[in-house]
Order: sequence, then C-alpha cells, then structure tokens
Amino acid sequence: MIKPLEDIFRRADIPSRPPIWLMRQAGRYLPEYRKCRAQAGDFLSLCYNSDLASVVTLQPVERFDFDAAIIFADILLLCDALGQELWFVEGEGPRLTPIQRCDDLVIDNIETHLAPVGETIMRVRKALSPDKTVIGFAGAPWTVASYMIAGCSTQYQGQALALMRSDRVAFQGIIDILIEATIRYLVLQVQAGAEVLQLFESWGGSLRGNEFTDFAIAPATSIITGLRARGVTVPIIGFPRGVNHDFYIDYAMSTGLDGLGLGSDIDIVSISKCVAGDIVIQGNLPPETLRVGGDMLITAAEDICSALESRRFIFNLGHGILPDTPLENVQLLVDYIHSR
Ligand code: CP3
Repeated sequence: MIKPLEDIFRRADIPSRPPIWLMRQAGRYLPEYRKCRAQAGDFLSLCYNSDLASVVTLQPVERFDFDAAIIFADILLLCDALGQELWFVEGEGPRLTPIQRCDDLVIDNIETHLAPVGETIMRVRKALSPDKTVIGFAGAPWTVASYMIAGCSTQYQGQALALMRSDRVAFQGIIDILIEATIRYLVLQVQAGAEVLQLFESWGGSLRGNEFTDFAIAPATSIITGLRARGVTVPIIGFPRGVNHDFYIDYAMSTGLDGLGLGSDIDIVSISKCVAGDIVIQGNLPPETLRVGGDMLITAAEDICSALESRRFIFNLGHGILPDTPLENVQLLVDYIHSR
C-alpha cells in the first residue's frame, strides 16, 4: 500500500508526482463545511465536537481526493487547555484574556482537555481510505505566545516582542510551559493515529537575529527532541512562515525536522539549493493564485513542480486557502498534480 504523503519521507527516489494537501483545506470555502459550522453553533464548539470535526476533516479529501487529511482543530486550543480563556468573535478572530507571565497556566489538564481532538483523529483514521495520511499539528511556542500575550491577532506581534525585550524571564517562562504542553499535545495526537505532524510558526517573520535562534529554533528543537525521546517516530514538518532565506536554512538544518514548509514570499529554488536533500520541502503556491485559477494557476503550479523536479517535495500553498476561493480552482489544481 503506497501512502503518497508518508512515503515521500521514507523513499530514496522521486515519485512521478508530488503528494498534495492544502493548508486550511477544511473551511469556509466549502458549502458542506459552512453547514456543519452552522450546526455546531460556533467555531470552538465545532473543534471540540469530535463527531462534526471528523466529518469536516474528511470533507475536502472526499471532494477533491487530497493525499492527506489535516485534523480540524486550532493552534489556540492549547491555550484553552492551559486554562487561559479563549473565544472567537464572529468575523474578527480569536480572543484570549491577555497574560504577562505563566503563573496562572496549568499544564496538568492537557490530555483531558484535548481528548476530543484525539477522538477526532481516531474517527478520521477509521473512516479515511488507507492510502491517505492523517496530519496532526500544533502552533510553535512563539506564535502561540504572541496570541496569549496580546489576547488577539496582531500584525507585528508588538506586545509579545515588548514582553520578550523587557522581561525575558517572564517571557521565557511562557515559552517553556508551551514547549512542554506542545510535546504532550502532539504525543496525544500520535497515540490517537496522527501519521505526520506539522508545527506552525506563522509569525516567525517578526523575530530578529538572536530572537529567532532563541525563540523559534530553540523551542522547535526542544519539541522535536522531546517527541523523539518519547518514542514519536512520525515525520515532522516545520513551517516558519515569513522568515528570510538564512533563517529558513537555519531552521531546516538545526531543529531536527523532516520537512520544511515554505511561505509564498520566498524563492523555492534558492531554498531548495541550500537545504539538504534528505529534507522534504513543502509549498508554496500563493493562495491568491489558487483563487484566480485558470491558466495562471496551472502555470504557477507547473513552475513549482519543475523547480523541485530533482528532489522529494510536497505540493501545498504558502498559507491557508482564502475563504472566497472557487471550488473548481481547487479541483483543477488537484487534477493537474495527479495527472503529472
Ligand atoms: O484545514 C486545516 O488547515 C485544519 C484546521 C486549522 C485551522 N486553523 C482551522 C480554522 C489549522 C491547521 C489552523 C491553524 C491556525 N490557527 C494558525 C496557523 C496557520 C496560519 O493561519 O497562520 C493560526 C495562526 C490559527 C489561529 C486562528 N484560528 C486565527 C487567527 C483565526 C481567525 C482568522 C480566520 O482565518 O478566520 C482562526 C479561526 C479558524 N481556524 C478558522 C478555521 C477553519 C475559521 C473559523 C470559522 O469562522 O469557521
């Protein structure tokens, strides 16, 4: 049985076509998602309802024949599990009661609080065809901390940077608890059936110089080392979106990851030249190009595929699918990759 997505990490040769899945492949652009979302009431209830979350996880794979199903959940569920109140404001995004230190965070409830995510994974694995892979994920500590400190989405992570620069001990305390909580959350996901993991460092681009080393590379290294020490053997993809060329290379070469996710703003060819051949590259079609569709989409997809012809890679976007993406464009892309 060939499972294209897992296989890419283990094989030595290059397959005739790359495996494909898309970030945010389950979501608002799908009418069947919007139906389940309405049924659940709000986004968080949907995440914690294993019955509906597993249905929503499977929807894009059933409709488009992606090679993998990424579990429907959110990186911020971990904050909720640590005891920091989390809610989503319709049309705006996440809200948390902001914190400045780790004193009130409680690590003991990770497994009980996040058990519904494990249940979703078990249901998805059971229902999914055996040639498809289940992807589990978590946010990387810096990205998650940026929401915990600001209490909402921010453009430049100013509040989190201010705490890092003014009270390094307090900031490090938050990062340390997130490292341990993330390891436990990902172990839970693998025990439930996750076969590949992705670590989202969505705001890596706002860290400068040593900050990137200390708060992106070091935590990712601790998480990957911690997972391996606890017997986790599945491939791990790191995705430090928005960082510069040298930071991508450092992240790829020093954290112990198996796959490197690339954002759309970086040249895939120049990264590919500098990253060891045993690391699988993933990316990096702009979500806007998927939204446009047609010849422009196929030309851009073809460019990425031919640029990475000589190495093992995973076709993906450089960021999540935009909610107003036409369904036929997604089908066109998957059919194009499958026909290569
Ligand atoms: O299909 C999938 O990719 C799996 C599910 C998934 C979601 N969020 C569902 C979601 C994954 C992997 C994430 C990761 C995530 N969540 C990240 C990292 C990736 C990135 O986008 O940079 C971040 C930063 C978050 C935090 C988050 N969740 C924000 C800022 C928002 C609001 C903005 C938005 O896009 O609506 C969310 C909500 C969210 N997470 C939705 C979905 C499908 C939209 C919820 C809805 O209204 O239905």
